[in-house]
Amino acid sequence: MDESQQIKKLVRTNTIHAFDAVCGHTKSFYTDSDGIILKKNSRAADGISEAEIMKKLMSDVLHVCIPSYYGISNLNGVEFIKMEHLTSTNNEMSIMDVKLGSKTYLRIEENNKLRADLYQKMIKVDETAPTEIEMKRETISKLRYLDFRDCRSTSRKLCFRVEGIRLTTGEQLEKEYLNRIGTREEVASLLHLFVSSIQNEIDPQEVCFQIIQKLKNIRDIANQSIFFKNYKFVGTSLLFIVEADRIDVKLIDFAKVRAMVNSSTSSSESQTDNPSNQTHQSNHSNNNNDDWLTGIENLISSFQSSSILN
Ligand SMILES: Nc1ncnc2c1ncn2[C@@H]1O[C@H](COP(=O)(O)OP(=O)(O)O)[C@@H](O)[C@H]1O
Ligand SMILES: [Mg+2]
Repeated sequence: MDESQQIKKLVRTNTIHAFDAVCGHTKSFYTDSDGIILKKNSRAADGISEAEIMKKLMSDVLHVCIPSYYGISNLNGVEFIKMEHLTSTNNEMSIMDVKLGSKTYLRIEENNKLRADLYQKMIKVDETAPTEIEMKRETISKLRYLDFRDCRSTSRKLCFRVEGIRLTTGEQLEKEYLNRIGTREEVASLLHLFVSSIQNEIDPQEVCFQIIQKLKNIRDIANQSIFFKNYKFVGTSLLFIVEADRIDVKLIDFAKVRAMVNSSTSSSESQTDNPSNQTHQSNHSNNNNDDWLTGIENLISSFQSSSILN
């Protein structure tokens, strides 16, 4: 039995339960009978797994900003990360996932094989994006696609992009729609929609105010963190949770966090430099977390202007 069949069996036998993630690899998320989140422990080509990163984070000051990590569970040969369920109350809530940073992929995931499916995904977002050669070929590499996503979304410009939103009504914004959000104005209206979605219960201005406090707190803790100094934060997200009596922002998704080159820890793990055969290269240095911090600053200013909008 392969891994996906094993997982189906675990669900069928009620060992684990389906979990509706707002975005990401949705087949990676489950809950156990105690309501704990189980996320498939991904191991990249360099052998590093997300669980290892979370374990390290738990002994850093940043642990208060992330879901608590409860170790690994091996079920029928499938390895899961056990972690705190951040959205377990049965209250109405709005949830938003915002990916931080200007370059959201690792060189190790880059793959130069030409793929027709990724070409189709690209033209779905922007039919003018392919070059003449790509149009003729109707294929692109994964590297080209991932870089296109960063350039076409707000990631390169603002160092963050909205990956998923679910509103109190249960309505989930279409991925195809979110993928086309590319300007500061478009993203501002998304944030506005998010903070207004629970307005029968809380004033949107109050939501903005509390979110800004949480973001400043995460920024300040990151600036004191030794882990943050030594590791490049690639592909991490902020999960925003708004319910009547709770507003929370937590940092999630550490599968692409890697030790930096020249850091005091192992340098061989870092694989975050820019692709060399790229048409869409950016000039920013990848050997620090400046883009991650800029993303937080830009989010703070976007929520500040969103709060004025109300
Ligand atoms: N600890 C958690 N509690 C509740 N929901 C979570 C938790 N971790 C992840 N999720 C849900 O799963 C989504 C994707 O999570 P993420 O870790 O970014 O996965 P991926 O690696 O597939 O991108 C989040 O947007 C959120 O909806
Ligand atoms: Mg993610």
